[in-house]
Amino acid sequence: MLSKQDNQLLTRTGPATPMGNLIRRYWIPALLSEEIPAPDCPPVRVGLLGEELVAFRDSLGRIGLVEEHCLHRGTSLYYGRNEDCGLRCIYHGWKYDVEGNVVETPAEPAGSGFTRKLRHTAYPTHEAGGVIYAYLGPREKMPLFPNYEWTQVPLNQTYVTKCLLECNYLQGLEGECDSSHLSFLHRTVDNARNQLLYKSDTAPAYETEETDFGVRLIAIRNAGDNQYVRFSAFVMPVYGCVPAGRPTNELDGFEIHTYVPIDDSRTWRYDIGFRRSRPVEEHEVHRRRQINSDYTRVRNARNDYLQDRRMQKTVNFTGIEDFLNHDACATESMGPIFDRSKEHLGVSDKAVIAVRKFLLSSVKALREGIDPPHLITDQDRNRFPHIDCFAYLLPNSESWRRHFDYLTVSATRDNPAVKRG
Ligand code: FES
Ligand SMILES: [Fe+2]
Repeated sequence: MLSKQDNQLLTRTGPATPMGNLIRRYWIPALLSEEIPAPDCPPVRVGLLGEELVAFRDSLGRIGLVEEHCLHRGTSLYYGRNEDCGLRCIYHGWKYDVEGNVVETPAEPAGSGFTRKLRHTAYPTHEAGGVIYAYLGPREKMPLFPNYEWTQVPLNQTYVTKCLLECNYLQGLEGECDSSHLSFLHRTVDNARNQLLYKSDTAPAYETEETDFGVRLIAIRNAGDNQYVRFSAFVMPVYGCVPAGRPTNELDGFEIHTYVPIDDSRTWRYDIGFRRSRPVEEHEVHRRRQINSDYTRVRNARNDYLQDRRMQKTVNFTGIEDFLNHDACATESMGPIFDRSKEHLGVSDKAVIAVRKFLLSSVKALREGIDPPHLITDQDRNRFPHIDCFAYLLPNSESWRRHFDYLTVSATRDNPAVKRG
């Protein structure tokens, strides 16, 4: 359980809040490339950390992410004209470039000086793997864009979906760090793998370790002569890396489930997946069917996730189709911002507790002026082989640490907490 104060601290992400300041120190997904697919295409609204923004792709393909309301008298730039390397307000024609410079104020007399004096809020962006990331923090503190594997593989080896989650980001993020819900929420009734690996051992042993990037989460289940080990990772500040959709013992990539606050009670969930060695096949992105063209979910709280009680008895644990909706039902039904002073945590919540602790110590340290972990400033160290997630059947006699020594060795070497110790 969390005190009301700590719950408040972790769940409020608007401008000038401590958690908002923490998340703003990192590159986070702001929208998908497909939302602004071509130069001079229509701009789109982007809600991010309580801020109202507009994104556009200018005539040269450069991306602008600017405050939605015009500097002049506040008309929304969402309705603006995207033309000749800038976004022009429809009210009096003020025009902005991707950096927020006011390049024209045609309703003003020549020499009015507005174009020199004024600058609109505009944030740096970086496009990679079908996602447009943004940095909303102080310019002088901007870290390098982290070269995660999923941002480096060719486009046909990666996939991404985005959908609205109607609750606070932390509820979604905590779900990624909670391996024990696999034994229930996502279980199907007739799947042999489920029977062996989940139903046979619904109370896994958990290990967690703090690393340079966040927290590694290890869940170990009994599976006869073997142990079934699942590696997941929480990566600062809002990434949950999981071995979703991968067969056991396959090491060829994983999924990254990302929870970006729109405001404190709505979140964009980005699911990014990649393969290291081969193109992604269409059927692997099953959840696309679950998402409407405006990125809301077909199954949502207003239609009770189209839960089918007969299916709940015969097909799967929830009676709801697709993992995406299982997670949404479990986390949205807690309410918009769950009060964690009311919860009752057990042994199975060890990983959730470890992630909260990491976030709380980072946010409290930043309040004291101490930079948070995993801000990349050195290009030579801008690679992350030790952020790896998979599920593996290992003989009981073998230790996962020895078998996958690259995980912990490099985590330890780069881990400031370990160095301090
Ligand atoms: S309000 Fe935008 S130009 Fe006047
Ligand atoms: Fe889940």
